[in-house]
Amino acid sequence: MSAERILKNRIRAELDGRASAGLRRELSLWEEPGGWLNLADNDYLDLARDPALAKAAAEAADRHGCSASASPLISGYRAIHRELERELFAWTGLPAGMLWNTGFSANQAVLSGLPRKGDLVLADRLVHHSMVRGILQSGARLIRFRHNDTDHLEALLRQHGRADRVVFVVTESVFSMDGDSPDVRALADLRGRHGFFWILDEAHAVGWHGAGLAVETGVAGSVDLLVGTMGKGLGSHGAYTLFQDETLREYFVNFAGEFIYSTYLSPLVAAAALAGIRRARELAPQQTTWITETRRLREQLMEGGFAVPDGDSPIIPVPIGGSAEVMAAAEFLRTHQILAGAIRPPTVPAGESRLRLSWKRTYGEPERNRLAEALLAWRESVSAPATP
Ligand SMILES: Cc1ncc(COP(=O)(O)O)c(C=O)c1O
Repeated sequence: MSAERILKNRIRAELDGRASAGLRRELSLWEEPGGWLNLADNDYLDLARDPALAKAAAEAADRHGCSASASPLISGYRAIHRELERELFAWTGLPAGMLWNTGFSANQAVLSGLPRKGDLVLADRLVHHSMVRGILQSGARLIRFRHNDTDHLEALLRQHGRADRVVFVVTESVFSMDGDSPDVRALADLRGRHGFFWILDEAHAVGWHGAGLAVETGVAGSVDLLVGTMGKGLGSHGAYTLFQDETLREYFVNFAGEFIYSTYLSPLVAAAALAGIRRARELAPQQTTWITETRRLREQLMEGGFAVPDGDSPIIPVPIGGSAEVMAAAEFLRTHQILAGAIRPPTVPAGESRLRLSWKRTYGEPERNRLAEALLAWRESVSAPATP
């Protein structure tokens, strides 16, 4: 058999496995038609279409062109990137850092590059795929601690911490599929006592929680490496890592293939991200209002009998259970012009499929009522006895 045939058979078998488990994924076009309620994307502060970001991107296109056109080590690192870095330092109070093309590549570079064979990585059971991939590539030993369970983490630190190896602790500040958070103050305290290297991914906290949960709770000085993304709450694209000093920047600039061998972040995107941070800083006084709205939404859904968890984040999971059921629920919402994420394995464990609702700063009571009514109608439709 030809190599092509063998490869195609192998791929086909894997795809058929996905399809027979009801887990096949497909791309569908999304064109943002008017009148829809979009609860699927991560534009929490509603900045992706903000005129200030569009203007900044257009001006940057005029000034710098549409592409960085080269790796940052050749000629791709421009004044707009430097300005964005400086804005991030001022916003977070962290003194050093760098930009990356995506959060995925930043996590991959960090976690495949820093831990080594012989080191230990303690990661929350639910950390993002990009981090797990990096850790597995690093050759370090990986142990998962129970989700957001600092007692379990401490027990593992006691059991496995040794002075002759580096121990990394990896977690997120707002979890992408659950919308919940660890106790970051307790993590900072643990770091003080156990001396591990703390990597905190703030992808879903940035913007909604200002410069992130670590800054908001006053523990940013304990985070050794903070990852933030600019394609979610900041309305643009790309990512950054922030450090306590310049050493890590020097290391990644010299050793991270994801940084060295890739065309750098487009100047348009960097300019839009910079404008996104400035808008987020301007909007910060309204934070209590947008958090209160999500609390009201959670209460409204709980009153309607949906087992949504408590919390302050814009991400609200509605547990559904089976993957076919969650697809049907999302489809039902679409008939009400509501777009929600249908999250299935392997993104979440089997039996834990859910609708992932992500809220926006600009949504209020009308959107809450519209969503709650549609969800109630969906529940009625699935619990109604079948017509004979
Ligand atoms: C926690 C977390 N980190 C990193 C990423 C990757 O970021 P990006 O979309 O910029 O690649 C995601 C993406 O959804 C995420 O949820």
